[in-house]
Amino acid sequence: MTAEPLEQETSEASSHAQDREPAVNASDDFIRRLPKAELHIHIEGSFEPELMFEIARRNGVRIPYDSVEAVRAAYEFEDLQSFLDIYYQGMGVLLEERDFYDLTMAYLRRVSGDGVVHAEIFFDPQGHTERGVAFETVLNGICNALRDGERQLGITSRLIMCFLRHLDEDDALRTLDQAMPFRDRIAGVGLDSSEVGHPPRKFQRAFARAREAGFRAVAHAGEEGPPAYVEEALDLLRVARIDHGNRALESMALVRRLAAERIPLTVCPLSNLKLCVVTDLREHPLTRMLDAGLMATVNSDDPAYFGGYVLDNFVAARDALGLSAEDIVTLARNSITASWADAGRKERWLAGIDAIASEPAD
Ligand code: ADE
Ligand code: ZN
Repeated sequence: MTAEPLEQETSEASSHAQDREPAVNASDDFIRRLPKAELHIHIEGSFEPELMFEIARRNGVRIPYDSVEAVRAAYEFEDLQSFLDIYYQGMGVLLEERDFYDLTMAYLRRVSGDGVVHAEIFFDPQGHTERGVAFETVLNGICNALRDGERQLGITSRLIMCFLRHLDEDDALRTLDQAMPFRDRIAGVGLDSSEVGHPPRKFQRAFARAREAGFRAVAHAGEEGPPAYVEEALDLLRVARIDHGNRALESMALVRRLAAERIPLTVCPLSNLKLCVVTDLREHPLTRMLDAGLMATVNSDDPAYFGGYVLDNFVAARDALGLSAEDIVTLARNSITASWADAGRKERWLAGIDAIASEPAD
């Protein structure tokens, strides 16, 4: 991998497994053992149908499907919006603090065996408060699970509150006001939901106020939206990371900037496949990002809907793109480096990755 600027137009850069160096094989077990941070996971997107039915039953809420299998069969998406319609419907069964606790704990338990040592978790407060669920109910449930997850599973975490970009900025500002008493429990703000037609500039005031209050900032950009949205997220929202960023590759100038400023991208291969951002995982831009010296990371986005948690995303990307062991190590290191975990922990995890990477091959 090189950190030098691209020498050729990105559209010509290699994107196929067969164009790259022969891979030193990274086994599933090698990937699992590497300490990894997940930096792009919507907790409501980890809502597995089994838990959805259980919580719906205890809350007396009707689900418009007869079975877990019928729910899974409905997970055929043609774009981001077709997914979001079902995603918002799914979260509608979450009412009580205990529901948010169970949801979060289930995610942490699921990834603890996959080598996830740290998770930076998005939640969508407006998706709950607009249904009459109190902000504090959502926050308490999630935070209590994050506390227990650290004690019981050793996974550290940060919480990121996303603004829904299909709603207006005043709604985001009201949500920020609701979060102010809980500043110590929320590390940052993010921007998600329907991207095209809702550019980052729409939320400039909300992000400025959030940053003044000490929140860090990230934003989804370049998933379906154009490179200009990535630039707006950087210049107007002053984000520390870009969530997705796929379409940044359409602008050479932007690629050079992302590389020079070491802006992390939280990339989600299986999400991109399920939402038709790419038609084939072999065409996924992850290798072009790495080849361009971008700080790409691998994440699951909404694992219950897209058919895989973070380890599954690593394995699928390795298989489709021919990622080498060196690539996998770079991605794991990037996830730790780009995280907001404590500096001492980050150093220890990076040393752990290096120790595993330097073990002699069998
Ligand atoms: N909310 C949950 N998943 C999302 C995604 N992939 N893009 C935008 N908003 C989302
Ligand atoms: Zn996302």
